[in-house]
Amino acid sequence: MKTPVKIAVSGAAGQISYALLFRIIAGDLLGPDQPVSLSLLEVPQAVGNLEGVAMELADCAAPLLQDVSCHSDPERAFEGADLVFLVGAQPRGPGMERRDLMEVNAGIFSVQGRALNAAARRTVKVLVVGNPVNTNALITRANAPDLPPENFAAMTRLDHNRAVSQLAARTGRRIREVEGVIIWGNHSTTQYPDIRHATIGGQPALELVGHAWYEQTFIGTIQHRGAEVIRVRGKSSAASGANAALEHMRDWVFGLPAGRWTSMAVCSDGSYGIEPGLMFSYPVEIREGRWRIVQGLAIDDFSRERIRASEGEILRERDMVRHLLP
Ligand code: NAD
Ligand code: LMR
Repeated sequence: MKTPVKIAVSGAAGQISYALLFRIIAGDLLGPDQPVSLSLLEVPQAVGNLEGVAMELADCAAPLLQDVSCHSDPERAFEGADLVFLVGAQPRGPGMERRDLMEVNAGIFSVQGRALNAAARRTVKVLVVGNPVNTNALITRANAPDLPPENFAAMTRLDHNRAVSQLAARTGRRIREVEGVIIWGNHSTTQYPDIRHATIGGQPALELVGHAWYEQTFIGTIQHRGAEVIRVRGKSSAASGANAALEHMRDWVFGLPAGRWTSMAVCSDGSYGIEPGLMFSYPVEIREGRWRIVQGLAIDDFSRERIRASEGEILRERDMVRHLLP
């Protein structure tokens, strides 16, 4: 029997977690022979509901589930955690931008960053899902100075998956045939879904879909997809967000085949001219549990302008939360 991996999830009584936790215990994250120990965090007023989620987890009689604990104290929840999903934060409603959540959500991540710093394993992988993700991840990382910056990421995998799905649908090809998509920048309407390096069935994606559709339809569709889901469904995306979180963490743990990349918002080292230290979505390769920003991609004027615009927005968000950055 393998040693259980300890997985902490915040916002564990919310809708994303409800779509995430049951897939984790089914082995979709770490495989069919890796036991997991779940440590669930909620605000005190939701711990009652959380106990109900824990009852349902137990009622699955899932062979991989070693134990479940429920917490309202982040330090207790993150104690010894190997993998952490920071989902707990308010979602936006119709007509809001994700940055409108800054005031209510940002403070959560300074508290939880400090708790991770104090209690999590030094090798912990922390994925921020709560919006606005890039800036919340920056706050978390800044408040956990004893943990390496590469232990933190913010989620742009949902945007990446949306882009892959739209390209497959447009060309009538299979999802697996789409490779090399990149989400640059912020998980917001300034994000830049770049298909200049993408291929579909080995052919250049841009040639297959055409510049007009790419520039006039595709980019906006991806940038506004979250708001469109809220408009149509009446609630912020949940199962697709949980799926993206699971895939992000699974790839981070197990790595990607050589020559393949995905999109993750990670700590900039200045690659592609982005201000060092910002949590910026880049193409990343992953080997042996470590991501590395893909280097040497040609960036034309069209791409550069959009990448810069998204960087500008993240810099403005950083200015809004300076008081939370020690
Ligand atoms: P939800 O309201 O259903 O659940 C959020 C849960 O977080 C609630 O149960 C709430 O009690 C809990 N919570 C709030 N503050 C907390 C704290 N300090 N500690 C622990 N728990 C806390 O929301 P949801 O639909 O699950 O979405 C969660 C977040 O994920 C939102 O901010 C949403 O915008 C974001 N999101 C991001 C992506 C992405 O692609 N990055 C995708 C979907 C949703
Ligand atoms: C999404 O992209 O679906 C999430 O970030 C939720 C939102 O507010 O758009």
